[in-house]
Amino acid sequence: MGRDRVNNFEFIDETHRQMRDGGLFLVAARKNGKPNAMTIGWGLIGTMWRKPFFTVAVRLSRHTQKLMEESDEFTVCLPAKGMEEALEICGTMSGRDIDKFNELNLTASKGFQVDAPYIAECPVHYECRVAYKTELRPGQLIEELERDAYPGGNYHVLYFGQILGVYAEKDVAEKLSY
Ligand SMILES: Cc1cc2nc3c(=O)[nH]c(=O)nc-3n(C[C@H](O)[C@H](O)[C@H](O)COP(=O)(O)O)c2cc1C
Repeated sequence: MGRDRVNNFEFIDETHRQMRDGGLFLVAARKNGKPNAMTIGWGLIGTMWRKPFFTVAVRLSRHTQKLMEESDEFTVCLPAKGMEEALEICGTMSGRDIDKFNELNLTASKGFQVDAPYIAECPVHYECRVAYKTELRPGQLIEELERDAYPGGNYHVLYFGQILGVYAEKDVAEKLSY
C-alpha cells in the first residue's frame, strides 16, 4: 500500500487524541542498528524557529533515550486499529531486554527523508530530525509538577524534532482508531 506525503499538520487532531488515549510509537535506532519502538503519551506539535516541530519527552532511564543520543533522527507513528497490544508492550518492555519489532511482528521501513525507520503497520508517520535538546534538571519546573512527575528523579530529555515530512497511507481513514 502506497504512502503519500501530506500536510505537516493534517493529522494533528488524531495525533493529539491518540497521545491522550493509548499513545503513539516513538521509533529510534542507532546508525545501522536495530530499530526500537516505545510508547509515548507526552509530546508537543507546533511551530518553532519558523518550522514545524514535534517535541518528545524521553526519560533518562529509557533505552530509547540512549538511541536518541546516538542518532539525531526519529519517527513518530500513529497506531492502526488493533495495535493496542503493541502499544502496551512497547510501553512496558524495554528494547534493552527484547527485540520489540521481532516479538510483535512489526515491519521497519526506512524513512523517506531520514534514515530512522517507521513502523509500516502504522498508517501515518512523522519524520523528524533533532534540532535541539534539553534535559530537565531539579528545581527548574514548578514544584507541584516536579513533585508529581519526578518523585525519584529520572528526568525527561526534551527532543525538539524538526518535522521533515508526514506520510499517510491512502486508506488511512479506515485504519486509524478514530
Ligand atoms: C501510554 C504510555 C505513554 C508513555 N509515555 C511516555 C513518554 O512520553 N515518555 C517516556 O519517557 N516514557 C513513556 N512511557 C513509558 C515507556 O514507553 C516505557 O518505559 C518503555 O518500556 C520504554 O521502552 P525502551 O526502554 O525500549 O525505550 C509511556 C508508557 C505508556 C504505556
